[in-house]
Amino acid sequence: MKVGIEAISIYSPRYYLDLKSLAAVRGIDAEKYYKGLGQERMAVVPPDEDIVTMAANAVESALEGIDFRSVDTLMLATESGIDQSKAAAIYVHRLVGLPSTCKAYELKQACCAGTAGVLAALALVQQHPQKKVVVVASDIARYGLGTPGEPTTGAGAVALVISADPKLVELSPDVGAYTADVMDFWRPNYMDEALVDGKYSIRVYLKALAESWNAYVKETGLDFTDHYRFCYHLPFTRMAEKGHLHLAKYSAPEGMGREALLEQIYSAQRYNRLTGNLYAGSVYVALTSLLESQEKLENKRVGLFSYGSGCMGIFYGGVVQPGYKKHLKEEKHRQMLGNRTEMPYGDYEVMYKNSLPKDGSEYMNNHYHVGNYRLAGVKDHKRIYEAVEREEQAPRSAPAVNSRSAPSKRSVSYP
Ligand code: CAA
Repeated sequence: MKVGIEAISIYSPRYYLDLKSLAAVRGIDAEKYYKGLGQERMAVVPPDEDIVTMAANAVESALEGIDFRSVDTLMLATESGIDQSKAAAIYVHRLVGLPSTCKAYELKQACCAGTAGVLAALALVQQHPQKKVVVVASDIARYGLGTPGEPTTGAGAVALVISADPKLVELSPDVGAYTADVMDFWRPNYMDEALVDGKYSIRVYLKALAESWNAYVKETGLDFTDHYRFCYHLPFTRMAEKGHLHLAKYSAPEGMGREALLEQIYSAQRYNRLTGNLYAGSVYVALTSLLESQEKLENKRVGLFSYGSGCMGIFYGGVVQPGYKKHLKEEKHRQMLGNRTEMPYGDYEVMYKNSLPKDGSEYMNNHYHVGNYRLAGVKDHKRIYEAVEREEQAPRSAPAVNSRSAPSKRSVSYP
């Protein structure tokens, strides 16, 4: 029986900062960001979006045309959690209208949690082929202003429907893993920004890649030449280059030159250059970017490497299915990434500094340009989410779990 990805959809906020603007303010050559890190833009999250609203947009889109009654479980992977107890998945479950028989919970292991969810989903579907599982990874990658990590900021969500009808990619549950207790990147509960030992984190990433690749080869008997393309976890897109050349050093066939190697990762980097780091979803944005490129991938095997700081690495892979192109949401993704609003540096800094009150006091957000859902505010220590009223469609009111609703008129304003 085949299991794997039936549908995939990404969501990224409607605002971005061009890294040329950031470079100008920081007094840094923009080529360092564009070439040295391989990043052009970073998504900027307005105050009325968070991991829940981004995830809800991605899940809603991934489930288009799929019978909600077949969805057994919703797993939300994140390292930007909003609550120590309640799973962000529960809010998403309500917003998109999944049935009460569908389980919903949250997963964590830094940027590897999305893949942990996919592996659990594959096992579940293998046992119950009539059931589908939605894995959504949603994150806000946030570093301190002016720190070396800042140009690798980003945000967004990616949702995958895992089922026994893998219209896009048949995934293999045979993986290679590497786990070690290291402090390369972490975020204590009392902080909004991640702490990172940048150069060390790159070394640990490369070690985790080599070790999980070795375990994967041992587990599957596959080698480098069995893989046509490779998708990497992309904290910044040049990381794929570093990783792939590192892997190739001891596993690629002799005579395979740098250009041929870079060709194997090129198409998987396009979208991430524009969104910035998505943490748990990053490798699946890379996969979406590859699938939605000009490449002909039918029956080709793709290697997937997921790295979560702290750390865990997982290498696995899958085979792209015949006819996959007609099941992609390519046009929607292109429009979403192409029609965003560029933000001047000053507005980015204002948005960066804006945060929800930490003492539970009431707070209502302004309306920004968002997707189909927004975080209206906070009242009585509860986040209030609502569906966005569109000019061209009837208002979709949010269910009444959090009783207060924000003004329904949709307007765009900066703080
Ligand atoms: N033109 C072109 N290239 C330039 C340049 C210029 N004018 N100036 C510098 N560069 C190049 C440098 O030569 C360097 O290239 P190499 O890597 O090939 O040497 C590259 O630009 C970056 O320059 P620096 O190494 O000087 O950059 P930095 O010290 O300011 O920081 C970083 C880089 C460590 C990645 C930092 O952005 C950071 O800490 N990022 C967050 C942590 C991170 O992403 N770690 C990755 C592994 S951990 C992980 O994957 C989990 C996760 O999601 C966080």
